[in-house]
Amino acid sequence: MENFNYHNPVKILFGKGKVKELSDQLPKDARILMTYGGGSIFKNGIYEQVKEQLNGFEVSEFGGIEANPHYETCMKALPLIKEKNINFLLSVGGGSVLDGTKFIAVGVHYKGNPWEILSKGAKVASALPIGAVLTLPATGSEMNGNSVITKAETQEKLAFGSPLVMPRFSILDPEFTFSLPQRQVVNGIVDAFVHVMEQYLTYPVNAPIQDRFAESILLTLIEQGKLALKNEQPDYENRANLMWAATMALNGLIGSGVKTCWATHTIGHELTALHGLDHALTLAIVLPGLLRQLKHKRIEKLNQYAKQVWGISESDKELAADKAINATEEFFRGLGMKTLLSEHQIGDKTIEKILTRFKNRNMTILGNQKDITLDDVKLLLQSRL
Ligand code: NZQ
Ligand code: ZN
Repeated sequence: MENFNYHNPVKILFGKGKVKELSDQLPKDARILMTYGGGSIFKNGIYEQVKEQLNGFEVSEFGGIEANPHYETCMKALPLIKEKNINFLLSVGGGSVLDGTKFIAVGVHYKGNPWEILSKGAKVASALPIGAVLTLPATGSEMNGNSVITKAETQEKLAFGSPLVMPRFSILDPEFTFSLPQRQVVNGIVDAFVHVMEQYLTYPVNAPIQDRFAESILLTLIEQGKLALKNEQPDYENRANLMWAATMALNGLIGSGVKTCWATHTIGHELTALHGLDHALTLAIVLPGLLRQLKHKRIEKLNQYAKQVWGISESDKELAADKAINATEEFFRGLGMKTLLSEHQIGDKTIEKILTRFKNRNMTILGNQKDITLDDVKLLLQSRL
């Protein structure tokens, strides 16, 4: 196992009715900016439930943070924060609202152009404190320090990370997910699944705790994902299990001390930036191609995955790996995901554009393990046409 530091200070309040504990989590002198998205919280009653808990606090609101949150939108919150002397941010929504809120939290203190935090990885020295009420299980943003922001002007989707933007608390009520359209439920399952894969399916380092945690999250997502599709009405237990699985998939635990690789996300972000595809859709396209392209390098972990997750008892290593990758793609397709670029009318031109963008950013080798060349990226994307 490799060395690691692990510190996750996010307080999780999980379960039915937990929003009633919201006011107890807030500093007494909180002057709050409540952030939200395009309006789902007004239709499903979450807005009222949150507002009820904020009686007695000074509260301003900032709505309209879109899916794949825009830099331009987030920047509009900064003058409001200064004007109202805000000292606490409360995100009410999915991963996009929370990621946007994280960027606002650092942008407001940053001396200089806040875009540098994303484009140059500029260090962030301080951030406003954040609390979250999560309405969509998928990203793990509720228990991590990551944020992904899109600059609409240049169609760039970039990430930053800092422990300073880990929420002070996150409220996870599975009932708050009941109003989700099927498409978003499925997006969440696939996103969480790929988060686990990017921390698990690389190279063995003799870390059975991390591996078995990862396998248990994958097995849960497969089982509960299929159940979620079958249920005509949302089922509390099913949603609770999906919600906790998504949080556990990206809170740092399973990625500690192991070899991770975030290349599927890096490539997927380009597809969203250029074509507006949902985040999870891009992952369902890229991951099977990436695993096939790297099959020989990653054969050991692919065989472990085949056996432990898909119950494949094939003795031929290559065949076992093929079967596991096929099972992964079939799982995504079974959830209703389109896994090919051509199914989204995306062709060779986009592949060339993505390669040029990586070259311009000096990204000639991808992945934390530096095992993916730009030729690999080209071939794997071509295999998804
Ligand atoms: O904007 P509103 O009206 O709230 O509607 C949203 C949005 O249209 C809707 N929604 C959310 N909760 C709902 C609901 N509709 C009905 N009922 C509810 N309870 O769902 C739509 C999608 O929401 P969004 O927040 O965009 O989805 P998600 O949570 O999947 O977040 C995706 C974003 O997170 C980033 C992605 O790149 C993408 O930008 N990621 C963030 C990560 C992180 N911070 O660690 C890691 C991930 O890999 C990912 O990259
Ligand atoms: Zn993701």
